[in-house]
Amino acid sequence: MRSTFKKMALAAVLGASVSGYAFAQESVEVLHWWTSGGEAAAVGVLKEDLQKQGVSWQDMPVAGGGGEAATTALKARVASGNPPTAAQLLGMAVNEWSEEGLLGDLTPVATKEGWDKVVPGAIKAFAVHDGKWEAVPVNIHRPNWLWINAKVFKDNGLQPPTNWDEFNTVAEKLKAKGIVALAHGGQPWQDTTIFDDVVLGLGGPDFYRKAILQLDETALGSDTMVKVFDQMRKIRGFVDPNFSGRDWNLATGMVLKGEAAMQLMGDWAKGEIVKAGLKPGVDILCVTAPGTEGSFLFNTDFFAMFPVGKDKVDAQNKLATSVMSPSFQEAFNLVKGSIPARTDVSGTKFDACGQKSMADLKTAEAAGTLLGSLAHGHAEPSGIQRAMFDVVTQHFNSDMSSKDAVAALIKSVNAAK
Ligand code: BGC
Repeated sequence: MRSTFKKMALAAVLGASVSGYAFAQESVEVLHWWTSGGEAAAVGVLKEDLQKQGVSWQDMPVAGGGGEAATTALKARVASGNPPTAAQLLGMAVNEWSEEGLLGDLTPVATKEGWDKVVPGAIKAFAVHDGKWEAVPVNIHRPNWLWINAKVFKDNGLQPPTNWDEFNTVAEKLKAKGIVALAHGGQPWQDTTIFDDVVLGLGGPDFYRKAILQLDETALGSDTMVKVFDQMRKIRGFVDPNFSGRDWNLATGMVLKGEAAMQLMGDWAKGEIVKAGLKPGVDILCVTAPGTEGSFLFNTDFFAMFPVGKDKVDAQNKLATSVMSPSFQEAFNLVKGSIPARTDVSGTKFDACGQKSMADLKTAEAAGTLLGSLAHGHAEPSGIQRAMFDVVTQHFNSDMSSKDAVAALIKSVNAAK
């Protein structure tokens, strides 16, 4: 597969550079999965920014939260020798495409603009390979948030839960009143977004590191992991009967409309809140997922450049420069729900949730509790991630016991290694 990708992509380079002389034109075709209301608004910010520099934007959106469908589409485009100019990638995917030797080198731009000094080390680790900048970070998302409809909580005399026991108590009370406690979309990446929260919330940051980042078999097979699956089973009882296959933004919409009380989701949900004209931190509360205060799960959206011909390199560099500019990082992330991927952007324009995210990022970086998200491609290579998704989702949608789930997790992880 590897060499096929390479051959096809190189054929594309040759083809494009011949035709490129005839149609020298500044445009970029960008493959991404930002198709919800809030996400599309954020794409609009990027498109406008580029247009100001004379680069036109050819949209290649592939619907599907978390980027699974987009990943498949990107692989097909590259395999057929027709890669896009740039693509949205999560951290581990940057590593994987880098190993294919297909990503454009952004080091000259990065050096000129001093990216090294402003991008946090944890993000840089995914963008820089063998000393070369091969991807440009657009944002820092935090998946371990709990979003709460403030009115539903107030009307029912509830306080935001700070650990999983409190969460269960609150959710039981809501359920007893016939209110959907948790809005959820039953898709593997959404199930695993919750799983990440439960592993971190019940086990703490050291346990998350051992089990998820190091795949330590003792941690994976521990009583704590059994308790994690017990909690997942409880959560399954708090979602409505129509959760299966629901898109994440529709689940967010349920919380915004007061049709459900809470959602465990990354801060792209904040993009939907802002788009709906509601106030994050006021109408919809943001609290860290139960038990995870002090830790920061992260994922970053990167853009990486694919080989589409020498005549496109200038436009690719302009895209990279645009994305890394402090003004763009501010404008884009205000709409997207995330925070800037550079440390020198002021938080003054951000709402309470964004400011908390910025402050928590610094604290977590200093404490060693800034941890890559499994659900969002910053913990394990795609094969292992997929194996873990399968077990989490299979358990969530069946009556599999927690002990069996733990055994299946170890077996699948080992088979995927
Ligand atoms: C991406 C976000 C996106 C979310 C839902 C995450 O993996 O990092 O940018 O909004 O998926 O599609």
